[in-house]
Amino acid sequence: MRVIVYSAHRHDIRDLSAANSAQAHAFEFFEARLGVDTARLAEGFDAVCTFVNDSLDAVVLGKLAKAGIRLVALRCAGYNQVDLDAAQRLGLCVLRVPAYSPHAVAEHAVGLVLTLNRHLHRAYNRTRENDFRLDGLEGFDLFGKTVGVIGVGRIGAVFARIMLGFGCRVLVHDAFTVPADLLQLGARQSPLAELLAQSDIVSLHCPLTPQTHHLIDASALSTMKPGVMLINTSRGGLLDTTAVIAALKEGRVGFLGLDVYEQEGDLFFEDLSSTIVADDVFQRLLTFPNVVVTGHQAFFTREALAAIATTTIANLDDFAAGRATTSPNRVDLGLVRRATR
Ligand code: NAI
Repeated sequence: MRVIVYSAHRHDIRDLSAANSAQAHAFEFFEARLGVDTARLAEGFDAVCTFVNDSLDAVVLGKLAKAGIRLVALRCAGYNQVDLDAAQRLGLCVLRVPAYSPHAVAEHAVGLVLTLNRHLHRAYNRTRENDFRLDGLEGFDLFGKTVGVIGVGRIGAVFARIMLGFGCRVLVHDAFTVPADLLQLGARQSPLAELLAQSDIVSLHCPLTPQTHHLIDASALSTMKPGVMLINTSRGGLLDTTAVIAALKEGRVGFLGLDVYEQEGDLFFEDLSSTIVADDVFQRLLTFPNVVVTGHQAFFTREALAAIATTTIANLDDFAAGRATTSPNRVDLGLVRRATR
């Protein structure tokens, strides 16, 4: 298949080329994001291969279909950026990489917890300045603390297991089922309200859907423990960022660790160090000493990247061989109904 790869960075070129060793597919790589202005580049290709911040709304999908595209191969698990109604209407098949390394994302979430808890981001800067004072670096033991995990699918379950290993009391909440082994290991299933009220640390691992949009808003924040640590490695839209900033200013949120941000499409994966960033909400977040933001890098491990490339090639193979309709990696309205029922 002739495949145009949008948002292609060095690692995408390296890993997709390696996984395509049989040369079954012809790739063209573009650093540009897919959007209204770049959709025309897809003329003459069979498939587009995209990442989290490429736009796949109805207008873009319409342009892709007109250009002759038949397949959208997502190099990610989340599909909230795709207008699936439009894709279905236009006869476009959408395949994704549902799982690559849940460990990568879960371990990054734990990294954010430890960074904030022990102020490692501040300690790093201090010691580089030969400032070895400890004032302001006092942390707290994770042992014995209550950790709430919202969404215990692939990533949330790994995160919960790690936190159980620290000796935390782990409360889990999922709209559907909770893995039995987690409960056997000592995690406790909990209604959302109870989890929010009791947790010292809350980590979000559910997908962004209409039901989970701004799951953590002003009203949810008002029920949480004063000084709570909030971690979001899932999707920015789960948090009402303005409400979280208000809670940070009042000290009601004690720590915030983010790998995702609602408006990250305008920021992440780009070098903006020489420009003026106009997003005042994001800029305000960066001023807090108890906030750590990483730029959607939780997935970014060797193992995860290799798995993404291998599954993407398998998805292209399946589509070329007419097997896509029965692929478990297919994203359609049925999957959305199952995920949000
Ligand atoms: P998954 O589908 O295995 O698990 C998601 C879980 O959330 C499921 O158990 C589901 O039942 C639950 N859920 C759905 N709606 C819910 C609700 N309203 N309340 C509570 N639970 C709900 O997905 P996986 O692989 O664990 O990924 C989770 C999320 O992590 C993805 O949706 C994606 O947005 C994000 N992600 C972030 C990455 C990063 O680099 N920062 C990389 C990969 C995924």
